[in-house]
Amino acid sequence: MCGIVGYVGSGKAAGIIVSGLHRLEYRGYDSAGIAVYPQGADHLQVVKTPGKIDDLEKLMLTEFQDPAVLNATIGIGHTRWATHGEPNQVNAHPHMSGQGNFAIVHNGIIENYRDLKLKLEKKDHHFRSETDSEVLAHLIEECYEGDLRAAVAAALEQVEGTYGIAVICKEHPDMIVAARKGSPIAIGVCDDATIVASDVSAIINHTNKVIFLDDGDVLLARKGDIDITSLKNVPVSRELTNIDWDLTQIEKGGYEHFMHKEIHEQPEALANAIRGRLVVEDGTSKLSGMQMDAYELARIDRVLIAACGTSFYAGMVGKYYFEDFADIPAEIQQAAEFRYRNPIIQRDTCMLAISQSGETADTLAAVREAKRKGAIVLGLCNVVGSTIAREAGRGVYLHAGPEIGVASTKAFTCQVAVLAMMAVALGRTRRLSIQAGRQIAESLQKVPELAQKVLDQEKAIITVAEKYAGVQDAFFIGRGYMYPCAMEGALKLKEISYIHAEGYHAAELKHGPIALLEENVPVFACCPDVPGKSKTIGNMQECRARKAPVIAFATEGDEEIAPHCDDLIVIPRCPEFLAPIPVVIAEQLLAYHVARLRGLPIDQPRNLAKSVTVE
Ligand code: AGP
Ligand code: GLU
Repeated sequence: MCGIVGYVGSGKAAGIIVSGLHRLEYRGYDSAGIAVYPQGADHLQVVKTPGKIDDLEKLMLTEFQDPAVLNATIGIGHTRWATHGEPNQVNAHPHMSGQGNFAIVHNGIIENYRDLKLKLEKKDHHFRSETDSEVLAHLIEECYEGDLRAAVAAALEQVEGTYGIAVICKEHPDMIVAARKGSPIAIGVCDDATIVASDVSAIINHTNKVIFLDDGDVLLARKGDIDITSLKNVPVSRELTNIDWDLTQIEKGGYEHFMHKEIHEQPEALANAIRGRLVVEDGTSKLSGMQMDAYELARIDRVLIAACGTSFYAGMVGKYYFEDFADIPAEIQQAAEFRYRNPIIQRDTCMLAISQSGETADTLAAVREAKRKGAIVLGLCNVVGSTIAREAGRGVYLHAGPEIGVASTKAFTCQVAVLAMMAVALGRTRRLSIQAGRQIAESLQKVPELAQKVLDQEKAIITVAEKYAGVQDAFFIGRGYMYPCAMEGALKLKEISYIHAEGYHAAELKHGPIALLEENVPVFACCPDVPGKSKTIGNMQECRARKAPVIAFATEGDEEIAPHCDDLIVIPRCPEFLAPIPVVIAEQLLAYHVARLRGLPIDQPRNLAKSVTVE
């Protein structure tokens, strides 16, 4: 989720806020905006636009010409990473209340915004945007009885979901109220100003002494002075942190590479991907973006998945989900094949396009071909308002947050989680029982902690990476749900370490690839304690008989596996259908540390682009 900057002090808020927003650009965003309040003015001044901060600055040249506006000493700004509503001018932040006295900027997702919006519409509130955030501006206005902090707290007590917000109000020209739950808010206090931001990179050029809000905190910020309370207005004290990072370190959250940061963001990204989408008591999921009721879902009799690269391998896992949970025939094709293969689309065929960027040319072409043939088309994208998402017309957003490293990591695991939810929804319109659906939903709820357990193994994975960082070739093998993991593990390693890594179905080795095995060709076996494990152990033995070192991704506590491998990478025990998530996170860490040890440009590997918008 993206960036917030608020300023109240002696300086010129507009210029200070915009330079703070520039420092947040690295986080990836799709639109930007700013609101300031010139003392004594009739109303707040707001400028916002889709696109970049440079576009916002151009707009400010015309909209903020009045010296009173440029000299305003209080304001808030935002870079948006859209989750609800296209990246356009109306949906950009700041959002205003109905009467225009309040302006808010919000990072996060308000899960219950539809219910809140309905209640406010009954009280004659009219909304301009499609966003969840705008609801908050109207709710604060509804709760306002003269005390800004109390109004914000009262509104937030009705909110389910995550937020990092900053609010200004015409009636209180000397204060900013901010609050956090799940989306970070940092504060810099100087003698003549207070800066509020979602990220210290927008603060450290003012001060390196920073205070971080905790979940549930509400901040009242005035020039050079702050007061922090709980939502219930109980005073809390938060310690001062000395920030001694330089700017490049801060942009990556202290990680050396965006890829490493994004690998470690997966517990939070998965929580956001799942948030508000499971209905455990009914053993199903609710994915409103599919815009399909149970009758329409029950009508689908075949799923055709089209994708590229890592998204293709996530789609391979999804194929198994649609077959296992919903008894629906599912197949997956490279998007480049699909678009030219004259695909067979029947009346009730659903074509699912999976794309993190939502801009991959082959996948977009596949969407267009599927639409020409009358398929039910769904998009599974991370970037809201991306071309594939728009042309598919309906589908599910990942909510994984911006993925900046070229090698896709958190998008893969979030794609898998969303595919499981899609398959459960489809399955429950068929023979999937409420009990089975509940079991799947309850397991999915635990996925963020499952991901964290793998990340906690990082030191052991580094040891394995150090042992094999010098090889030139490597195999990844797996079967069943582990076959896509073998393919993805090989792709991760090859694209950032330049090692010639190949993924194979474990049973395929003896049909040719095993000819390549010798002692300096390690075989990474995706072999958690799931059905088919004993067969994969047999394949591992075939490899070791050719002196190839075997490294197993194995379930913690599984005694059977150790005698059959040279090294172990341990993953937490979990249901078979979820095993791709911990296994692939372990593979991501392995690939990352091998590439780091080889001193390679991990975030921008040679020859690669983050989004392949050409054929
Ligand atoms: C994955 O690590 C690669 N960067 C690449 O294979 C990528 O998954 C592929 O280009 C598809 O991108 P998309 O998901 O944005 O469509
Ligand atoms: N959910 C809000 C929106 O879609 C905020 C997104 C963000 O964190 O930038 O506008």
